[in-house]
Amino acid sequence: MNKDLTSGFDLDRADLNNIFKLAAELKERRRPGQELNGKVISLVFQKPSMRTRVSFEVGVSQLGGSCVYLSPGDISLGDREPVKDAARVLSRYVDGVICRTFAHSHMEELARYSEVPVINGLSDVYHPCQALADMFTILEIKGRLEGVRLAFVGDGNNVLHSLLAIAAKTGVDLRAATPRGFDPQSQIWEQAVREGGKSFKLTHDPREAVEGADFVYTDVWTSMGQESEREQRLKAFRDFQVNQELLQKAAPDCRVMHCMPVHRGEEVTEEVIESNRSVIIDQAENRLHVQKAVMALLFNK
Ligand code: CP
Ligand code: NVA
Repeated sequence: MNKDLTSGFDLDRADLNNIFKLAAELKERRRPGQELNGKVISLVFQKPSMRTRVSFEVGVSQLGGSCVYLSPGDISLGDREPVKDAARVLSRYVDGVICRTFAHSHMEELARYSEVPVINGLSDVYHPCQALADMFTILEIKGRLEGVRLAFVGDGNNVLHSLLAIAAKTGVDLRAATPRGFDPQSQIWEQAVREGGKSFKLTHDPREAVEGADFVYTDVWTSMGQESEREQRLKAFRDFQVNQELLQKAAPDCRVMHCMPVHRGEEVTEEVIESNRSVIIDQAENRLHVQKAVMALLFNK
C-alpha cells in the first residue's frame, strides 16, 4: 500500500481486496481491538462533517488509539502557517493524519511533507473513504463487484472522482450523467478509463446512464465551498433529479445510493430516499468499518 490515501488512485486491486476483506472481518467482530494500540491520530478539518469525523473518531477509539481534533479555528491550513510546516510538525507528534480541506493541493502538500500517513477525509477534488464504503456496500449487497452496473447522476464532483478511481479497479461498470459544464475533470476520467474503467460511459442524459442500472447514485448539486453558485446550479441540474420516473429505467431491483447529507427535493425526492430501494444508512455505517480497515493497514506499516 502507498503511504497515503489521497484520491483512490493510490490503491491497487490487491489493496482494495485487503481493505474489503478486513472491513468485513472488523464489521463481523464488533468488539474493540488493539490494532491502533497507543497510537494518536490527528483529525485536521477545515469544513463541517458528521459522518467522516464521527466514524473516524469512533473507529480510532474502537481500535485502541486516541484522536486530537483540530478545527478550522485551531489550524487554518495554508493560512496561519504554510502547509508544509504544519505537516512536518504534526508528524513529530502523531502517528497519522486525517484531513478534510478545500484545496486538494493542500492535501497533496500535507501528504508530501508529512512523515506519517495522511488520509483524505474529503477535498474539493476527491473523497476516497466515501467511495471505499460505497464499493463495500455494493459488494455486500451483490456478493460481487465485477459487472455491477452503477449509474451516477449529478455533479462531476469529488464523490464521482473517487468513485471513478476506485470503481476502475473493481470491474464495476460505471455510467455517469452530468449536465453540460459539470463533467468530471477530464484527466481524472481518462486516468480511470486507463486504469481499468474501459466500459465507463459519460453522458448528459440521466435516462441513458440509469438504463438497466443495479445502483443509482447521486450527491448534492452544490458542494461545500460552492454556495455562491447555488442558484445557477439549481437551474443547471433541474433535469437530473433521481425520482420514481427516472428509476423506471433502472433494473427492477435497483438500489439508490447517496453519500449524505441529502437535499430532499433537489438531487433526490423524499419518496425515493425513504423507499426500501435506499441503502444510504448502510453506506454511512460502512464508512466506519472500511476506515477502520484502512487505518489498521496504513498506520501500522
Ligand atoms: N458523506 C460524508 O462525508 O458526510 P460528512 O460530510 O457528514 O462527513
Ligand atoms: N460533494 C459533497 C460531499 C459531501 C460529503 C461536498 O463536497 O460537499
